[in-house]
Amino acid sequence: MVEDNGSVRTLSVDIGGSGVKAMVLDIAGKPLTERARLETPQPAKPEVVINAIVVLAAAQGDFHRVSVGFPGVVRCGVTETAVNLHPDWIGCDLATTLSKQLNKPVRVINDADMQGLGAIAGKGVELVVTLGTGFGSALFIDGKLVPNMEMGHHQFRKGETYEEQLRRAALEQIGEKKWNRRLEKAIASLQHLFNYDYLYIGGGEAVKVNMHLPLNVKLIPNVTGLLGGIALWKD
Ligand code: BGC
Repeated sequence: MVEDNGSVRTLSVDIGGSGVKAMVLDIAGKPLTERARLETPQPAKPEVVINAIVVLAAAQGDFHRVSVGFPGVVRCGVTETAVNLHPDWIGCDLATTLSKQLNKPVRVINDADMQGLGAIAGKGVELVVTLGTGFGSALFIDGKLVPNMEMGHHQFRKGETYEEQLRRAALEQIGEKKWNRRLEKAIASLQHLFNYDYLYIGGGEAVKVNMHLPLNVKLIPNVTGLLGGIALWKD
């Protein structure tokens, strides 16, 4: 770490099923670089995705530490699921591997959890969902994260999960109008389940949300996923 804490720069990385994104944040969490993006290499095995991060990192200039949002369950830097990437991720020590490659400390959490950290107000029950290749979810109570909630893989309707009904592939299949109706039902169902004070909707497909939203439901820009990276170093 550099001596002057004020100049500590964090490389924030968001691994998605279709794109790997990165940007550098200052100590206050403000972007210092433009968001850079590479297509997620396919098949999305650890080695090639980690390589994509290294390529993105090299183009981002100087940084001192790295935050990563990963699309699966993450415990102590190890990825435990990766439904939209590749089974080889199960049991992969992403934090240690990337840290060795970049020669910097690395912290990794679930991508929806990281997006939530960039969005929440820190009061009451706050739920975050992300709409993209998959369906991400994150739950916070007075700003404290309940990690790895994985609502996406639970039953929603017609024998299908939230993810099966609302992921990008479903949107492409049924069109925006029907997808928005499904989403409206999902919002109602999640409200009944969590009785949240606030719901934040992010992810790449949040721009397709087209409905009247209750006052306590907010759309958040996809870059929030990267901005949340600063919160990984709060303690
Ligand atoms: C994964 C979640 C992730 C979400 C969005 C789901 O398939 O299980 O961990 O947050 O996709 O990427």
